[in-house]
Amino acid sequence: MAPVDLIGSSPKFRAVLAELEKVAPVDSSVLLQGETGTGKEVIARAIHDASPRRNNRFVALNCAAIPAALLESELFGHEKGAFTGAWGLAKGRFQSADGGTIFLDEIGDMPLEIQPKLLRVLQEREFERLGSGQTVRVNVRVVAATNQDLAQLVNRKLFRADLFYRLNVVPIHLPPLRERIQDILPLTQCFVARFAARLNKTIDVIPDDVLAVLKAHDWPGNVRELQNVIERAVLFSPGPALSLHMGLTPTRKETIEMPKRTLAEADREHILETLHKTNWMIGGQDGAANLLGLPRTTLIYKMRKLGIETRRSPVTPMLRELAEEECCAAANG
Ligand SMILES: Nc1ncnc2c1ncn2[C@@H]1O[C@H](COP(=O)(O)OP(=O)(O)OP(=O)(O)O)[C@@H](O)[C@H]1O
Ligand SMILES: [Mg+2]
Repeated sequence: MAPVDLIGSSPKFRAVLAELEKVAPVDSSVLLQGETGTGKEVIARAIHDASPRRNNRFVALNCAAIPAALLESELFGHEKGAFTGAWGLAKGRFQSADGGTIFLDEIGDMPLEIQPKLLRVLQEREFERLGSGQTVRVNVRVVAATNQDLAQLVNRKLFRADLFYRLNVVPIHLPPLRERIQDILPLTQCFVARFAARLNKTIDVIPDDVLAVLKAHDWPGNVRELQNVIERAVLFSPGPALSLHMGLTPTRKETIEMPKRTLAEADREHILETLHKTNWMIGGQDGAANLLGLPRTTLIYKMRKLGIETRRSPVTPMLRELAEEECCAAANG
């Protein structure tokens, strides 16, 4: 992602910028929390760019986008032959970020079984590649982000408390766009200019009624949603005045929750289907975890998170107990 000029002059956004300036020069871990599209990634990059590490790499990794089984190797690397398919040595993102910054996005999705290893890098700055006994030392600053309530995940034993405190040295909360309406005009002007240039159009008027509609909308998708709306508006505006073409639906709550629910629902359905196939057997060669390509503890963790109760298993009480035991072990590290 190319560096972005941070736009916004509302008091809440200015407060974020002030925190950014304070935290950039030091090496403390930063935890960015905020709804989707509020600018967590651009702020993470801005912290790196304003830090003494700016000439080294900024390495971003989305913890939710990588299957749990691969995440550990992605972060810490592996030796040749460490597991089936490990054809050669891989350095891992921590080592690539040496001297720079690693951005761990969606940190709330970091599986419990990898969390101790992350904690160790944060505390001791060292780790071992998968399949290697040799300790690697790195000097990496960690910036993490999440749109989940991490403290609540800790309370529910889905995230390690010690790791949470270690990451949360400097918490920065990114306010939703609806709480900084003052930023809507400058952001709109910036996006209009950008997309008009890209589409080779001239749009130099933002009519008052258009601005009023933009200010009244709730922006569940925050700055990203505004950016998309403006891109479409620029595309469809017939003359030099920005027109919204399609109305913005004020039914915000539904729009906020729908995509999340759909994704979680899709996961839920897939897991339930697999559990059904395996007669609720989780572990073992023919178990659901194996079919889904997940470690058992990760599947159980996901099931808990999605509200699928292991006790619904009609299989055996013993298995259920085993699963619950494992779940607690995973939750407690
Ligand atoms: N203050 C800002 N000024 C200019 N552009 C911004 C600003 N904040 C966000 N953006 C733009 O909005 C989009 C969304 O920002 P970003 O990807 O950083 O959000 P996010 O919080 O990481 O979202 P998600 O939780 O969905 O990953 C990006 O295209 C980014 O460039
Ligand atoms: Mg992001």
